[in-house]
Amino acid sequence: MTGAVPTAIIVTSSTPLWYTTRATGLVALVLLTASMGAGLLSSVRFEHRSWPRFVTLGLHRNLSLLALAFTVVHVLTTVLDTFVSIPLADAFIPFIGSYRPFWLGLGAIALDLMLALIITSLARARMGLRSWRLVHWTAYACWPIAVVHGLGTGSDTSVRWVLALTAACVLVVVVLTLWRLALSWPQRPGWATAGVVLVVLAVVAGGAWLRAGPLAPNWSARSGTHSSQPRAASSTSAGAGK
Ligand code: HEM
Repeated sequence: MTGAVPTAIIVTSSTPLWYTTRATGLVALVLLTASMGAGLLSSVRFEHRSWPRFVTLGLHRNLSLLALAFTVVHVLTTVLDTFVSIPLADAFIPFIGSYRPFWLGLGAIALDLMLALIITSLARARMGLRSWRLVHWTAYACWPIAVVHGLGTGSDTSVRWVLALTAACVLVVVVLTLWRLALSWPQRPGWATAGVVLVVLAVVAGGAWLRAGPLAPNWSARSGTHSSQPRAASSTSAGAGK
């Protein structure tokens, strides 16, 4: 061995746009988690004398819109930053890009689902409750897809506080989802059991993937950062990068 063999290739970009991409990605994830939490709280009909249900519903709506606003800035700064070319189409059409195509594609799916959720909710009065509810179920896919996108694409994944923040988001959604499933147990025991099994499997599989993937050496290259794309640095730690 030569002694200086890099275990991870990191493409660094220190432009303000790229910092904004990373910051807004994390804020969007927190807001999406908060919106998901408020949605779950309203579905378990949580209320208190000092916290009526309409407050939760209003929060859910406003947090969703705020999450979308931050996601739009996240996408725009990604596209406008010229260090690596990521066209606007990549933000909406999954898996067509050249930069970490699978993990970026998950972001595109999350954005498409988010748009569908928000548009159908704003037009809820005009569409049947059944169709609205059917679309709204995809929220259960939108959130974990966004989480995996962030972990798979983000250059800050191995930073301790970013990991802690993501773990806190996961904890909030898992606990509230289990609460929701527990309440639906008397009416639909089969569905509730399947839901609990799915949640547990997803958490275990997610943890195993995180260890073997983004937290393991050489993730930058393995995740699809092309050799033709600029590489400003090689390192063993994930720092500021694209
Ligand atoms: C619901 C939608 C989305 C959410 C919640 C989200 C969230 C995140 C998060 C949390 C990160 C990690 C940031 C970090 O490690 O510092 C990230 C990274 C990234 N996202 Fe998104 N994202 C979404 C959609 C998209 C879309 C549609 C695109 C396509 C343009 C995109 C492009 C990127 C890129 C290029 C990175 C890597 C930034 C870096 O190097 O750290 N994201 N995203």
